[in-house]
Amino acid sequence: MNIQLLNQNIADAKSDISLVYMTKEQLKNYKHKKALKLAGFEAASDTICFLHEKNTLVCGVEEFSADDIRSVSSVAIKALKKTNYKSANVLVEDKSLIFALVEGFVLGGYVYDRYMSKKDAPTLKDISIIYTKDDYKSAIKLFSDAIIVADATCFTRDIVNTIPEDMNPPALAKLAKKLAKENGLECDILNEKELKKEKCTAMLAVGRASRHESKLIHLTYKPKNPKKVISLVGKGLTYDSGGLSLKPGASMVTMKMDKAGACGVIGMMKAISELKLDVEVHAFVGAVENMIGGDAYKPDDILVSRNGKTIEVRNTDAEGRLVLADVLDYAQDKVNADYLFDFATLTGACVVALGQYTTGVMGHSSELKRAISKSATNAGELTASLPFNKHLKKQIKSEIADICNISNKPYGGSITAGLFLDAFIKEENKQKWLHFDIAGSAYTESPWDCNVYGGTGAGVRFMSNFIKNI
Ligand code: BES
Ligand code: ZN
Ligand code: ZN
Repeated sequence: MNIQLLNQNIADAKSDISLVYMTKEQLKNYKHKKALKLAGFEAASDTICFLHEKNTLVCGVEEFSADDIRSVSSVAIKALKKTNYKSANVLVEDKSLIFALVEGFVLGGYVYDRYMSKKDAPTLKDISIIYTKDDYKSAIKLFSDAIIVADATCFTRDIVNTIPEDMNPPALAKLAKKLAKENGLECDILNEKELKKEKCTAMLAVGRASRHESKLIHLTYKPKNPKKVISLVGKGLTYDSGGLSLKPGASMVTMKMDKAGACGVIGMMKAISELKLDVEVHAFVGAVENMIGGDAYKPDDILVSRNGKTIEVRNTDAEGRLVLADVLDYAQDKVNADYLFDFATLTGACVVALGQYTTGVMGHSSELKRAISKSATNAGELTASLPFNKHLKKQIKSEIADICNISNKPYGGSITAGLFLDAFIKEENKQKWLHFDIAGSAYTESPWDCNVYGGTGAGVRFMSNFIKNI
Protein backbone atom coordinates (compact mmCIF):
# COMPACT_ATOMS: atom_id res chain seq x y z
CA MET A 1 0.00 0.00 0.00
CA ASN A 2 1.30 3.37 -1.01
CA ILE A 3 0.61 6.47 1.09
CA GLN A 4 1.30 9.92 -0.27
CA LEU A 5 0.78 13.54 0.71
CA LEU A 6 -0.70 15.65 -2.08
CA ASN A 7 -1.10 19.37 -2.41
CA GLN A 8 -3.99 19.63 -4.80
CA ASN A 9 -7.58 20.60 -4.89
CA ILE A 10 -9.76 17.77 -3.54
CA ALA A 11 -11.90 18.08 -6.67
CA ASP A 12 -8.87 17.15 -8.80
CA ALA A 13 -7.80 14.32 -6.57
CA LYS A 14 -9.07 11.22 -8.24
CA SER A 15 -9.72 8.41 -5.80
CA ASP A 16 -12.34 5.69 -5.67
CA ILE A 17 -13.48 6.78 -2.24
CA SER A 18 -13.05 9.75 0.15
CA LEU A 19 -12.78 9.54 3.92
CA VAL A 20 -14.72 12.18 5.82
CA TYR A 21 -14.15 12.60 9.56
CA MET A 22 -16.92 14.11 11.66
CA THR A 23 -18.18 14.69 15.18
CA LYS A 24 -21.76 14.15 16.38
CA GLU A 25 -22.27 17.91 16.13
CA GLN A 26 -21.14 18.02 12.49
CA LEU A 27 -23.33 15.06 11.63
CA LYS A 28 -26.42 17.16 12.42
CA ASN A 29 -25.69 19.40 9.43
CA TYR A 30 -24.14 16.81 7.11
CA LYS A 31 -25.69 16.58 3.64
CA HIS A 32 -26.12 12.80 3.84
CA LYS A 33 -27.34 12.70 7.44
CA LYS A 34 -30.56 10.88 6.46
CA ALA A 35 -28.70 7.97 4.88
CA LEU A 36 -26.40 7.78 7.87
CA LYS A 37 -29.33 7.78 10.26
CA LEU A 38 -30.87 4.87 8.36
CA ALA A 39 -27.58 3.03 8.70
CA GLY A 40 -27.64 3.65 12.45
CA PHE A 41 -24.47 5.74 12.33
CA GLU A 42 -24.14 8.36 15.07
CA ALA A 43 -20.53 9.46 14.59
CA ALA A 44 -19.45 7.82 17.84
CA SER A 45 -15.66 7.52 18.10
CA ASP A 46 -14.10 4.53 16.33
CA THR A 47 -17.23 3.91 14.24
CA ILE A 48 -17.39 4.18 10.47
CA CYS A 49 -20.10 4.03 7.81
CA PHE A 50 -19.78 3.50 4.08
CA LEU A 51 -21.91 5.61 1.73
CA HIS A 52 -21.01 3.56 -1.33
CA GLU A 53 -23.20 5.51 -3.73
CA LYS A 54 -21.54 8.72 -2.65
CA ASN A 55 -18.03 7.23 -2.77
CA THR A 56 -17.63 8.24 0.84
CA LEU A 57 -16.51 6.59 4.06
CA VAL A 58 -17.66 8.56 7.08
CA CYS A 59 -15.52 8.21 10.23
CA GLY A 60 -16.75 9.24 13.66
CA VAL A 61 -14.60 11.19 16.12
CA GLU A 62 -15.45 12.68 19.50
CA GLU A 63 -13.08 15.56 18.72
CA PHE A 64 -10.43 16.34 16.11
CA SER A 65 -7.58 15.13 18.32
CA ALA A 66 -4.63 13.04 17.16
CA ASP A 67 -5.77 10.17 19.38
CA ASP A 68 -9.28 10.06 17.88
CA ILE A 69 -8.04 10.43 14.30
CA ARG A 70 -5.38 7.72 14.70
CA SER A 71 -7.80 5.30 16.25
CA VAL A 72 -10.68 5.67 13.77
CA SER A 73 -8.25 5.70 10.82
CA SER A 74 -7.16 2.23 11.97
CA VAL A 75 -10.77 1.07 11.92
CA ALA A 76 -11.25 2.64 8.49
CA ILE A 77 -8.18 1.11 6.88
CA LYS A 78 -9.10 -2.38 8.07
CA ALA A 79 -12.57 -2.00 6.57
CA LEU A 80 -11.22 -0.51 3.33
CA LYS A 81 -8.84 -3.42 2.87
CA LYS A 82 -11.82 -5.74 2.72
CA THR A 83 -13.47 -3.77 -0.12
CA ASN A 84 -12.65 -3.54 -3.81
CA TYR A 85 -11.73 0.15 -3.78
CA LYS A 86 -8.30 0.69 -5.30
CA SER A 87 -7.64 4.16 -3.96
CA ALA A 88 -8.81 6.41 -1.14
CA ASN A 89 -8.20 10.00 -0.18
CA VAL A 90 -8.67 12.24 2.81
CA LEU A 91 -8.56 16.01 3.03
CA VAL A 92 -6.74 17.30 6.10
CA GLU A 93 -7.11 20.91 7.22
CA ASP A 94 -4.93 20.72 10.31
CA LYS A 95 -1.29 19.88 9.64
CA SER A 96 -0.79 18.54 13.16
CA LEU A 97 -3.11 15.62 12.36
CA ILE A 98 -0.94 14.25 9.52
CA PHE A 99 1.13 12.15 11.94
CA ALA A 100 -1.98 10.53 13.41
CA LEU A 101 -3.45 9.77 9.98
CA VAL A 102 -0.24 8.08 8.84
CA GLU A 103 -0.04 6.07 12.07
CA GLY A 104 -3.66 5.02 11.79
CA PHE A 105 -3.26 3.85 8.20
CA VAL A 106 0.18 2.23 8.46
CA LEU A 107 -0.04 0.77 11.97
CA GLY A 108 -3.76 -0.04 11.88
CA GLY A 109 -3.38 -1.63 8.45
CA TYR A 110 -0.38 -3.73 9.51
CA VAL A 111 -0.64 -7.43 8.72
CA TYR A 112 1.84 -10.14 9.72
CA ASP A 113 1.46 -13.02 7.29
CA ARG A 114 4.91 -14.62 7.22
CA TYR A 115 3.50 -17.96 8.36
CA MET A 116 0.31 -17.91 6.27
CA SER A 117 0.46 -20.22 3.27
CA LYS A 118 -2.02 -17.96 1.47
CA LYS A 119 -1.38 -14.23 1.68
CA ASP A 120 -4.20 -11.74 1.18
CA ALA A 121 -3.52 -9.11 -1.45
CA PRO A 122 -5.94 -6.26 -0.75
CA THR A 123 -7.30 -4.32 -3.74
CA LEU A 124 -6.54 -1.01 -2.00
CA LYS A 125 -3.26 0.28 -3.39
CA ASP A 126 -3.15 4.05 -2.80
CA ILE A 127 -4.06 6.41 -0.02
CA SER A 128 -3.69 10.13 -0.62
CA ILE A 129 -3.67 12.63 2.21
CA ILE A 130 -4.52 15.98 0.71
CA TYR A 131 -3.21 19.15 2.32
CA THR A 132 -3.98 22.30 0.37
CA LYS A 133 -2.57 25.03 2.61
CA ASP A 134 0.51 27.12 1.73
CA ASP A 135 2.97 25.57 4.16
CA TYR A 136 3.06 22.36 2.18
CA LYS A 137 6.83 22.03 2.63
CA SER A 138 6.61 21.72 6.40
CA ALA A 139 3.65 19.36 5.97
CA ILE A 140 5.77 17.13 3.73
CA LYS A 141 8.46 17.01 6.43
CA LEU A 142 5.88 15.98 9.04
CA PHE A 143 4.51 13.39 6.64
CA SER A 144 7.84 11.80 5.79
CA ASP A 145 8.90 11.74 9.46
CA ALA A 146 5.61 10.03 10.31
CA ILE A 147 6.21 7.40 7.62
CA ILE A 148 9.72 6.71 8.98
CA VAL A 149 8.48 6.26 12.55
CA ALA A 150 5.49 4.14 11.52
CA ASP A 151 7.66 1.93 9.30
CA ALA A 152 10.19 1.49 12.12
CA THR A 153 7.32 0.51 14.42
CA CYS A 154 6.20 -2.13 11.88
CA PHE A 155 9.81 -3.31 11.58
CA THR A 156 9.86 -3.82 15.37
CA ARG A 157 6.51 -5.63 15.22
CA ASP A 158 7.84 -7.97 12.51
CA ILE A 159 10.78 -9.02 14.70
CA VAL A 160 8.61 -9.47 17.81
CA ASN A 161 6.12 -11.57 15.83
CA THR A 162 8.78 -13.88 14.42
CA ILE A 163 8.69 -17.26 16.14
CA PRO A 164 11.53 -18.26 18.51
CA GLU A 165 12.82 -20.94 16.13
CA ASP A 166 13.44 -18.26 13.50
CA MET A 167 14.41 -15.38 15.77
CA ASN A 168 16.92 -16.83 18.21
CA PRO A 169 19.87 -14.80 19.56
CA PRO A 170 22.20 -15.41 16.56
CA ALA A 171 19.33 -14.59 14.17
CA LEU A 172 18.64 -11.33 16.04
CA ALA A 173 22.35 -10.47 15.83
CA LYS A 174 22.30 -11.16 12.09
CA LEU A 175 19.26 -8.94 11.66
CA ALA A 176 20.98 -6.12 13.59
CA LYS A 177 24.03 -6.48 11.36
CA LYS A 178 21.87 -6.22 8.25
CA LEU A 179 20.16 -3.07 9.56
CA ALA A 180 23.58 -1.60 10.40
CA LYS A 181 24.76 -2.20 6.86
CA GLU A 182 21.65 -0.70 5.29
CA ASN A 183 21.46 2.34 7.59
CA GLY A 184 25.13 3.18 8.06
CA LEU A 185 25.34 2.12 11.71
CA GLU A 186 28.31 0.60 13.49
CA CYS A 187 27.65 -2.90 14.75
CA ASP A 188 29.61 -4.88 17.30
CA ILE A 189 28.51 -8.34 18.37
CA LEU A 190 29.90 -10.22 21.36
CA ASN A 191 29.68 -14.02 21.33
CA GLU A 192 29.80 -16.22 24.43
CA LYS A 193 33.58 -16.38 24.50
CA GLU A 194 33.77 -12.59 24.44
CA LEU A 195 30.97 -12.33 26.99
CA LYS A 196 32.99 -14.56 29.29
CA LYS A 197 35.96 -12.25 28.88
CA GLU A 198 33.66 -9.33 29.72
CA LYS A 199 32.55 -11.19 32.89
CA CYS A 200 28.88 -11.13 31.83
CA THR A 201 28.32 -14.21 33.98
CA ALA A 202 24.72 -13.47 34.95
CA MET A 203 23.69 -13.07 31.31
CA LEU A 204 25.58 -16.21 30.31
CA ALA A 205 23.94 -18.25 33.10
CA VAL A 206 20.46 -17.43 31.76
CA GLY A 207 21.36 -18.63 28.26
CA ARG A 208 23.34 -21.70 29.28
CA ALA A 209 20.67 -24.35 28.66
CA SER A 210 19.79 -23.01 25.22
CA ARG A 211 21.14 -24.55 22.05
CA HIS A 212 21.48 -21.00 20.68
CA GLU A 213 24.52 -18.95 21.56
CA SER A 214 23.83 -15.79 23.60
CA LYS A 215 24.83 -12.51 21.95
CA LEU A 216 25.36 -8.95 23.10
CA ILE A 217 24.56 -6.59 20.24
CA HIS A 218 25.89 -3.03 20.18
CA LEU A 219 24.62 -0.72 17.42
CA THR A 220 25.86 2.86 17.10
CA TYR A 221 24.45 5.82 15.19
CA LYS A 222 27.02 8.61 15.04
CA PRO A 223 26.07 11.87 13.28
CA LYS A 224 28.69 14.60 12.63
CA ASN A 225 28.02 17.04 15.47
CA PRO A 226 25.85 15.28 18.00
CA LYS A 227 24.02 17.45 20.53
CA LYS A 228 23.72 14.63 23.05
CA VAL A 229 24.60 10.98 23.55
CA ILE A 230 21.95 8.38 24.41
CA SER A 231 22.26 4.73 25.35
CA LEU A 232 19.29 2.42 24.83
CA VAL A 233 19.32 -1.02 26.40
CA GLY A 234 16.90 -3.79 25.41
CA LYS A 235 15.88 -7.10 27.00
CA GLY A 236 16.16 -9.64 24.21
CA LEU A 237 14.83 -12.91 25.58
CA THR A 238 14.05 -14.57 22.26
CA TYR A 239 12.12 -17.09 24.35
CA ASP A 240 11.31 -17.20 28.04
CA SER A 241 10.19 -20.66 29.14
CA GLY A 242 10.83 -19.59 32.74
CA GLY A 243 13.82 -21.92 32.94
CA LEU A 244 13.76 -24.51 35.72
CA SER A 245 11.15 -22.35 37.50
CA LEU A 246 9.12 -23.34 34.45
CA LYS A 247 6.14 -21.22 33.47
CA PRO A 248 2.71 -22.87 33.42
CA GLY A 249 1.73 -23.87 29.88
CA ALA A 250 -0.73 -21.05 29.32
CA SER A 251 1.73 -18.35 30.47
CA MET A 252 4.42 -19.67 28.14
CA VAL A 253 2.34 -18.94 25.06
CA THR A 254 3.29 -15.44 23.74
CA MET A 255 6.73 -15.56 25.42
CA LYS A 256 8.35 -15.01 22.02
CA MET A 257 7.48 -11.39 22.86
CA ASP A 258 10.06 -11.37 25.65
CA LYS A 259 12.46 -9.90 23.10
CA ALA A 260 10.23 -6.85 22.53
CA GLY A 261 12.56 -4.49 24.42
CA ALA A 262 15.42 -5.52 22.15
CA CYS A 263 13.25 -5.29 19.02
CA GLY A 264 12.07 -1.88 20.20
CA VAL A 265 15.56 -0.42 20.58
CA ILE A 266 16.60 -1.88 17.21
CA GLY A 267 13.51 -0.24 15.67
CA MET A 268 14.43 3.04 17.38
CA MET A 269 17.89 2.86 15.77
CA LYS A 270 16.21 2.44 12.39
CA ALA A 271 13.94 5.43 13.00
CA ILE A 272 16.65 7.70 14.41
CA SER A 273 19.11 6.98 11.61
CA GLU A 274 16.47 7.57 8.94
CA LEU A 275 15.25 10.76 10.60
CA LYS A 276 18.93 11.78 10.57
CA LEU A 277 18.69 13.21 14.09
CA ASP A 278 21.74 15.04 15.42
CA VAL A 279 22.04 12.86 18.51
CA GLU A 280 24.51 10.01 18.98
CA VAL A 281 22.59 6.90 19.89
CA HIS A 282 23.81 3.51 21.09
CA ALA A 283 21.69 0.39 21.36
CA PHE A 284 22.79 -2.48 23.61
CA VAL A 285 20.82 -5.70 23.35
CA GLY A 286 21.16 -8.81 25.50
CA ALA A 287 19.94 -11.60 23.22
CA VAL A 288 19.41 -14.79 25.20
CA GLU A 289 17.06 -17.77 25.32
CA ASN A 290 15.85 -18.98 28.75
CA MET A 291 15.45 -22.78 28.57
CA ILE A 292 15.62 -25.90 30.70
CA GLY A 293 18.11 -28.77 30.62
CA GLY A 294 20.87 -30.46 32.55
CA ASP A 295 23.02 -27.39 32.06
CA ALA A 296 20.38 -24.88 33.17
CA TYR A 297 21.06 -22.34 35.89
CA LYS A 298 18.98 -22.98 38.96
CA PRO A 299 17.17 -21.53 41.92
CA ASP A 300 19.79 -21.50 44.73
CA ASP A 301 22.62 -20.51 42.38
CA ILE A 302 24.59 -17.40 43.21
CA LEU A 303 25.81 -15.49 40.17
CA VAL A 304 28.59 -12.92 40.06
CA SER A 305 27.43 -10.12 37.78
CA ARG A 306 29.70 -8.02 35.58
CA ASN A 307 29.99 -5.22 38.15
CA GLY A 308 31.04 -7.71 40.86
CA LYS A 309 27.76 -7.80 42.79
CA THR A 310 26.57 -11.28 43.73
CA ILE A 311 22.99 -12.30 42.95
CA GLU A 312 21.05 -15.02 44.71
CA VAL A 313 18.77 -16.76 42.20
CA ARG A 314 15.51 -17.85 43.78
CA ASN A 315 13.50 -17.99 40.58
CA THR A 316 14.93 -18.60 37.10
CA ASP A 317 11.87 -16.93 35.56
CA ALA A 318 13.12 -13.56 36.84
CA GLU A 319 15.81 -13.81 34.17
CA GLY A 320 15.41 -10.49 32.33
CA ARG A 321 16.86 -8.50 35.21
CA LEU A 322 19.92 -10.83 35.29
CA VAL A 323 20.60 -10.21 31.60
CA LEU A 324 19.99 -6.48 31.99
CA ALA A 325 22.27 -6.25 35.04
CA ASP A 326 25.22 -7.23 32.86
CA VAL A 327 24.16 -5.34 29.74
CA LEU A 328 23.42 -2.13 31.67
CA ASP A 329 26.85 -2.36 33.30
CA TYR A 330 28.53 -2.99 29.93
CA ALA A 331 26.66 -0.05 28.35
CA GLN A 332 27.74 2.31 31.14
CA ASP A 333 31.38 1.25 30.79
CA LYS A 334 31.42 1.61 27.01
CA VAL A 335 29.58 4.90 26.58
CA ASN A 336 29.37 7.99 28.74
CA ALA A 337 25.80 8.89 27.78
CA ASP A 338 23.62 11.85 28.74
CA TYR A 339 20.62 9.54 28.96
CA LEU A 340 20.37 5.83 29.66
CA PHE A 341 17.05 4.12 28.90
CA ASP A 342 16.20 0.44 29.15
CA PHE A 343 13.20 -1.30 27.62
CA ALA A 344 12.05 -4.67 28.88
CA THR A 345 9.04 -6.97 29.08
CA LEU A 346 10.16 -7.38 32.65
CA THR A 347 7.22 -8.23 34.90
CA GLY A 348 3.70 -9.59 34.79
CA ALA A 349 3.19 -7.36 37.84
CA CYS A 350 3.41 -4.29 35.61
CA VAL A 351 0.43 -5.54 33.61
CA VAL A 352 -1.47 -6.10 36.87
CA ALA A 353 -0.59 -2.61 38.09
CA LEU A 354 -1.25 -0.57 34.94
CA GLY A 355 -3.25 -2.77 32.59
CA GLN A 356 -2.05 -4.04 29.25
CA TYR A 357 -1.95 -0.73 27.41
CA THR A 358 0.43 1.29 29.56
CA THR A 359 4.22 1.24 29.79
CA GLY A 360 5.55 1.50 33.35
CA VAL A 361 8.23 4.16 33.82
CA MET A 362 10.71 3.96 36.70
CA GLY A 363 13.72 6.00 37.71
CA HIS A 364 15.03 8.71 40.01
CA SER A 365 14.66 11.86 37.92
CA SER A 366 11.19 13.43 38.11
CA GLU A 367 12.20 15.91 35.44
CA LEU A 368 13.17 13.17 33.00
CA LYS A 369 9.99 11.24 33.78
CA ARG A 370 7.95 14.37 33.03
CA ALA A 371 9.74 14.89 29.72
CA ILE A 372 9.08 11.29 28.71
CA SER A 373 5.45 11.56 29.71
CA LYS A 374 5.13 14.59 27.42
CA SER A 375 6.74 12.74 24.51
CA ALA A 376 4.47 9.75 25.06
CA THR A 377 1.38 11.95 25.05
CA ASN A 378 2.54 13.61 21.81
CA ALA A 379 3.32 10.28 20.22
CA GLY A 380 0.07 8.61 21.28
CA GLU A 381 1.59 6.04 23.62
CA LEU A 382 0.46 5.46 27.20
CA THR A 383 3.00 5.65 30.03
CA ALA A 384 2.69 5.94 33.81
CA SER A 385 5.24 6.37 36.54
CA LEU A 386 5.69 3.65 39.17
CA PRO A 387 7.46 5.26 42.13
CA PHE A 388 10.43 3.73 43.92
CA ASN A 389 10.56 3.72 47.72
CA LYS A 390 13.03 2.52 50.36
CA HIS A 391 10.63 -0.06 51.83
CA LEU A 392 10.25 -1.97 48.55
CA LYS A 393 14.02 -1.86 48.16
CA LYS A 394 14.38 -3.97 51.32
CA GLN A 395 12.32 -6.73 49.70
CA ILE A 396 15.15 -7.72 47.33
CA LYS A 397 17.76 -8.10 50.09
CA SER A 398 19.43 -11.51 50.26
CA GLU A 399 20.69 -13.33 53.36
CA ILE A 400 23.58 -14.93 51.47
CA ALA A 401 24.40 -12.64 48.53
CA ASP A 402 24.44 -8.92 47.73
CA ILE A 403 20.96 -8.98 46.23
CA CYS A 404 18.18 -11.45 45.42
CA ASN A 405 16.61 -11.77 41.97
CA ILE A 406 13.05 -11.84 43.37
CA SER A 407 11.21 -10.00 46.08
CA ASN A 408 10.35 -11.68 49.37
CA LYS A 409 6.81 -10.27 49.21
CA PRO A 410 4.17 -10.78 46.52
CA TYR A 411 3.33 -7.09 45.95
CA GLY A 412 4.98 -4.28 44.00
CA GLY A 413 6.74 -6.72 41.65
CA SER A 414 7.41 -4.28 38.83
CA ILE A 415 8.93 -1.73 41.20
CA THR A 416 11.12 -4.30 42.95
CA ALA A 417 12.31 -5.43 39.50
CA GLY A 418 13.09 -1.78 38.68
CA LEU A 419 14.94 -1.46 41.99
CA PHE A 420 16.93 -4.58 41.16
CA LEU A 421 18.10 -2.87 37.93
CA ASP A 422 18.84 0.28 39.93
CA ALA A 423 21.48 -1.70 41.85
CA PHE A 424 23.44 -1.91 38.57
CA ILE A 425 23.23 1.78 37.69
CA LYS A 426 26.37 3.67 38.63
CA GLU A 427 25.95 6.55 41.08
CA GLU A 428 26.84 9.17 38.44
CA ASN A 429 24.12 7.84 36.10
CA LYS A 430 21.20 7.64 38.54
CA GLN A 431 19.56 10.84 37.27
CA LYS A 432 20.18 9.92 33.62
CA TRP A 433 18.50 6.53 33.75
CA LEU A 434 14.92 5.41 33.21
CA HIS A 435 13.55 1.89 33.04
CA PHE A 436 10.52 1.12 30.85
CA ASP A 437 8.53 -2.01 31.64
CA ILE A 438 6.67 -2.83 28.43
CA ALA A 439 5.34 -6.25 29.56
CA GLY A 440 1.75 -5.16 28.87
CA SER A 441 2.14 -2.62 26.10
CA ALA A 442 4.48 -4.57 23.79
CA TYR A 443 2.11 -7.31 22.71
CA THR A 444 -1.63 -7.75 22.29
CA GLU A 445 -4.00 -10.52 21.34
CA SER A 446 -6.88 -8.16 20.67
CA PRO A 447 -6.72 -4.93 18.66
CA TRP A 448 -6.70 -1.58 20.44
CA ASP A 449 -5.98 1.92 19.07
CA CYS A 450 -3.69 1.41 16.06
CA ASN A 451 -2.43 -1.93 17.39
CA VAL A 452 -3.37 -5.24 15.84
CA TYR A 453 -2.78 -8.84 16.99
CA GLY A 454 0.86 -9.39 17.98
CA GLY A 455 3.74 -7.02 18.68
CA THR A 456 2.80 -3.35 19.00
CA GLY A 457 6.23 -1.74 18.66
CA ALA A 458 5.83 -0.12 22.09
CA GLY A 459 8.43 2.54 22.81
CA VAL A 460 9.46 3.27 19.23
CA ARG A 461 7.09 6.19 18.76
CA PHE A 462 7.64 7.94 22.08
CA MET A 463 11.41 7.45 22.09
CA SER A 464 11.69 8.77 18.51
CA ASN A 465 9.63 11.76 19.60
CA PHE A 466 11.77 12.33 22.72
CA ILE A 467 15.07 12.14 20.84
CA LYS A 468 13.76 14.34 18.04
CA ASN A 469 12.85 17.05 20.55
CA ILE A 470 16.05 17.00 22.59
N1 BES B 1 9.06 -12.16 30.70
C1 BES B 1 8.46 -12.23 31.98
C2 BES B 1 7.50 -11.08 32.26
C3 BES B 1 6.23 -11.02 31.45
C4 BES B 1 5.08 -11.57 31.93
C5 BES B 1 6.20 -10.34 30.27
C6 BES B 1 3.91 -11.49 31.21
C7 BES B 1 5.04 -10.25 29.55
C8 BES B 1 3.89 -10.81 30.03
C9 BES B 1 9.53 -12.22 33.05
O1 BES B 1 10.75 -12.76 32.71
C10 BES B 1 8.97 -12.99 34.20
O2 BES B 1 8.70 -14.14 34.01
N2 BES B 1 8.81 -12.35 35.32
C11 BES B 1 8.25 -12.96 36.47
C12 BES B 1 8.97 -12.45 37.66
C13 BES B 1 8.70 -13.22 38.93
C14 BES B 1 9.29 -14.62 38.82
C15 BES B 1 9.32 -12.47 40.07
C16 BES B 1 6.77 -12.59 36.52
O3 BES B 1 6.40 -11.50 36.14
O4 BES B 1 5.99 -13.44 36.95
ZN1 ZN C 1 10.82 -14.90 32.99
ZN1 ZN D 1 11.26 -12.72 30.68
